[in-house]
Formats: sequence, C-alpha cells, structure tokens
Amino acid sequence: MDGILTVLGIESSCDDSAAAVVRQAPGGRGEILASSVVGQAALHADFGGVVPEIAARAHVEVLDHLVEAALAEAGLGLDEIDALAVTAGPGLIGGVLAGVMLAKGIAAARGLPLVGVNHLAGHALTPRLTDGLEFPYLMLLVSGGHCQFLRVEGADAFSRLGGTIDDAPGEAFDKVARLLGLPQPGGPAVEAEAARGDPARFALPRPLIDRQGCDLSFSGLKTAVLRARDAMVAEHGGITRADRADLCAGFQAAVGDVLAAKAARALAQSPGMSAFAVAGGVAANAALRARLKAVAQAAGVPFMAPPLALCTDNAAMIAWAGIERLRLGQCDDMTLAARPRWPLDTSAPALIGSGKRGAKG
Ligand code: KG4
Ligand code: ZN
Repeated sequence: MDGILTVLGIESSCDDSAAAVVRQAPGGRGEILASSVVGQAALHADFGGVVPEIAARAHVEVLDHLVEAALAEAGLGLDEIDALAVTAGPGLIGGVLAGVMLAKGIAAARGLPLVGVNHLAGHALTPRLTDGLEFPYLMLLVSGGHCQFLRVEGADAFSRLGGTIDDAPGEAFDKVARLLGLPQPGGPAVEAEAARGDPARFALPRPLIDRQGCDLSFSGLKTAVLRARDAMVAEHGGITRADRADLCAGFQAAVGDVLAAKAARALAQSPGMSAFAVAGGVAANAALRARLKAVAQAAGVPFMAPPLALCTDNAAMIAWAGIERLRLGQCDDMTLAARPRWPLDTSAPALIGSGKRGAKG
C-alpha cells in the first residue's frame, strides 16, 4: 500500500489486552497516535501464572472498549483507518482468537484490509518504529515466553542464531520471584531486590556459557536458586531479607553473564549490523540493559533499546509491524488463522522445549 497509512493494531496473545493507532508516511517514522494496554495480573494473581481461559475471557470483555478508547485518543473514526493489524500468534490460542475475531469483525463491517502479525515480529521490528533503524540489525528478543537472537534482515526476513532450549529469562525471573515470596510479575521485583544484594555471595551456574553457538538455558539456574534457598531454610529455618536480596543479585548477575557472553558471540557472527537492539519485557531490566550495551560498545555497534512501554507487550508494535507488511504488499483476508505456534525463522531447526513451556509459551 502507498501513501500515508493509519493502522489500528490489536494485541491479545498473552495477559495484556492492547489497542493502538499508528500512522506512517511512506519512508517516514511511525507516529503513535494512541496506545493503551490493560494488563490482567490481578486476575491471575491467585493462580501463580496465566490461566488461558481466564485470559481469553478477559480479552473478549475489554478489547472492543480498548479499540474505542484508542480511536478516541487518536481523534479518529474507523472511516479514517486504512487497515487493521492483529496479532495472529504465537500465543495462548483463546486470547489470540479473541483479537483475530474482533479484527475480522471490524474489517468485514467496514470493508477494511486485514493483516495478521506475528507477535515476535512486532517486538523485533519495534526499533524501526521508535528509531527508524535500518536493516539488517541484530535483535535479542527476551521476554516471559521467548529468548532468541535474530538477525532482522527485512520486515519478513528473520534468521535465528540461537535461543533458549528451556525456560525464557522472564519465566525464570518470575519463578525465582515466586520461590522467594516476591510478587508477580517477578522481573521488576527481583531487579529491585538485586539492587540491594551481593551478586558474589552465592556461586550460581552460568548454563551453556562455554558451549559454542548462541543457544541459552535458564532452567538449571532457577533450580540452583531453589537449592540455595532450601539449604538456608534447612540450616536456619528460613531466609532473611539480606539472603533474598543476595540470591536475587546472584541470579540476575548470572543471567547477565550468560546474555552478555552469547550476545558477544552473536555479534561476532554477524558483521555489518546497523545496531544491536533488545526488546521484550526482560529488556526493561536496567542492569541487563547496561550489560548488553557494554557488549555492543565493545563490538563497535550502536545499542538500541525501545522505551520501557514499548519493550513489554503493546499494540503499537503490532500496528507498526502491520504497516511494514502492508508496505511490502502483503495482506490477509477472512481466512486468517490464529496460531498458537509461529516461528519467525521457519528455516531454523526447532529448539527442544523452547516456547513450549509456561503460560507464555
Ligand atoms: O514481553 P512481555 O511483556 O511478555 C511476553 O512474555 O511476551 O514480558 C513479560 C516478562 C515477565 O516474565 C516479566 O517478569 C519480565 O518480562 N520482566 C522483567 C522486568 N520487567 C518485566 N524481567 C527482568 N527485569 C525486569 N525489570
Ligand atoms: Zn511479548
């Protein structure tokens, strides 16, 4: 599609319902006219994780209101929207269906083009929305359900260099928080504790750090935190606030060491990158960002991290990824399917366990 594009984006693949309106003139930067997100943390708090059926129902209840609110914030009516972009996967299927059905309904009623977006492409293309980053660039996508190094060569061209073979880092942050009695989502809580702790007190493993390639693993690290906690409970009958802070600091330092080592390797394997960018909820962690920035600087490549609100799940990134697809002449129709699994790089071998665990898998 040519000319100025104004696209309504809808996101509902996990536990955030979101709607946004993004506009772009050909070749220009994206302008976020509206973006709102409603999280579901309170609904899932009693269950220790995201309950798919509860999530799907909550998306259904809130999404149409969010669309109305986004249009009102943008000061636009549906007749001023050029196309609808919706997350069509990967994610919890009930939630993805809720978004896809809403987008199809609006598109059919208004005769608007419909474009399905891969949620991971939404995260991976965010630095182009925020900073107009040129292809190709290296991306570390690091969230509650995903962890992979991608060379982003085009809006629909991604090469995966490696990824987690078990848990995603966000999932590990959430589990560590849970086993130390900290609130969910665990990332911000663990980061706050870590800031007061001694990262060197506990000798925690750095899984796969010496293994060739860019694959990662976080499950053993989480188990090591569990063992360290249990050893202290057995010896002292519990853990002190200082113990907890030290465990958080040790865990975060281990995650940082592993991510930094693998990022350095991914950059060494990827000459000619315009930047090293991070996205996903874990990229909100200031200490990890600092580690990754240092790696980029050492490799002589600019570092780029989107603003925090665009690191975590949102619909502006979906609207933007939709614009990128539309500019390539790509569009979907009423046969658009919701997909629980949808790898970005279909040529890369499947990773054992990756993306198949946890509520966000
Ligand atoms: O990208 P996101 O909003 O959702 C998906 O997984 O797609 O990421 C959420 C994850 C959660 O696991 C959360 O604990 C983690 O990102 N997270 C953090 C921080 N903020 C959020 N992890 C570490 N440090 C943080 N400051
Ligand atoms: Zn996400």
